[in-house]
Amino acid sequence: MPHMTAFARNQWYVAAHAPEVGRELLGRTVLGEPLVLYRTEDEGTAVALSDRCVHRRFPLSASRLDGDRIVCGYHGFTYDTTGACVSVPGQKRVPRTARVASYPVVELDSLVWVWIGDPALADPAAVPRARHLDSPGWVTVRGMEPVDADYGLLVDNLLDLSHETYLHGGYIGTPEVAETPITTEVDEDAGVVRVSRHMDDAACPPFYARSTGIEGRITRWQDIEYHAPCLYLLHSRVAPVGVLPEADGSDPDAFHTEITYAITPSAEGRVYDFWAVSRDFARDDDEVSTILRDFNHTVVMQDVDALNLLQRALGTERAGYQELSINIDTGGLAARRILARLVEEGDKPVERAP
Ligand code: FES
Ligand SMILES: [Fe+2]
Repeated sequence: MPHMTAFARNQWYVAAHAPEVGRELLGRTVLGEPLVLYRTEDEGTAVALSDRCVHRRFPLSASRLDGDRIVCGYHGFTYDTTGACVSVPGQKRVPRTARVASYPVVELDSLVWVWIGDPALADPAAVPRARHLDSPGWVTVRGMEPVDADYGLLVDNLLDLSHETYLHGGYIGTPEVAETPITTEVDEDAGVVRVSRHMDDAACPPFYARSTGIEGRITRWQDIEYHAPCLYLLHSRVAPVGVLPEADGSDPDAFHTEITYAITPSAEGRVYDFWAVSRDFARDDDEVSTILRDFNHTVVMQDVDALNLLQRALGTERAGYQELSINIDTGGLAARRILARLVEEGDKPVERAP
């Protein structure tokens, strides 16, 4: 298929929002690997196993839990939390090879991260942080939408917010977003791309007018921090026009919104769009939660529809099309470069002790 970004396998990816993983079996596909996720009964530890029973490959996510064990819904092969098969029907002896893969899991900041590549390389300290998702002082609404598009198209989409003016007009876009130039910083070694756009005097889009109550024009800052390949943070600061942070860095008269995305390739041409909106204002106002949840869901669906359409269009184009890029694409191009490097490095043979 054309226009498919290769997967960087030796990386952490978000498989679920923490509240999605519980005592119901959850099926998710990450980098083409079908997974079943659940939580243990006593410790509440998140477990990720291969979703294919070793016997006839029935999906374990369509099976049931017996305590912390999964009992296959077809013929009853039973697996413990490590993926080892502990009983089979009709015989005492369990074949030695009866096990399914188990995947390293880290639960951090209310996200469940999985590692699909070489388990020996899985370093929990390498999981990027999104502390606002699980910190006092912040309230979060969240969701996930699957998209039938190459995950690279979602990376492009999120790194260039000028599209807000056109695709999300009337929600989060105003003319000033597309009009205001960006600055881009790239930390190649850390695999982080930062794109900033500071609007001194901009119209307040309904997303912020309705949630903050500001009437009139605003100072609006968008500071993107993309930790390739999966985590995207948009630090958003909105204040009545002219209100700036204090000299000591405190910023009591501004409204801060942290918009988090996790971009998880599901299979070729499919990506999970995990989203969350966290705010430090009107924290006990449920109506504001509802407004932000509904608005962001609408905005995400506008992107989903656009990317589904774009992927279909790209699928019919002639080979060798020369893409045109301009200043707004600087962040997206840097992200593509970093992703290509991560793929290359991940494919290098791993040195092991003999
Ligand atoms: S397919 Fe799972 S027990 Fe037969
Ligand atoms: Fe968008």
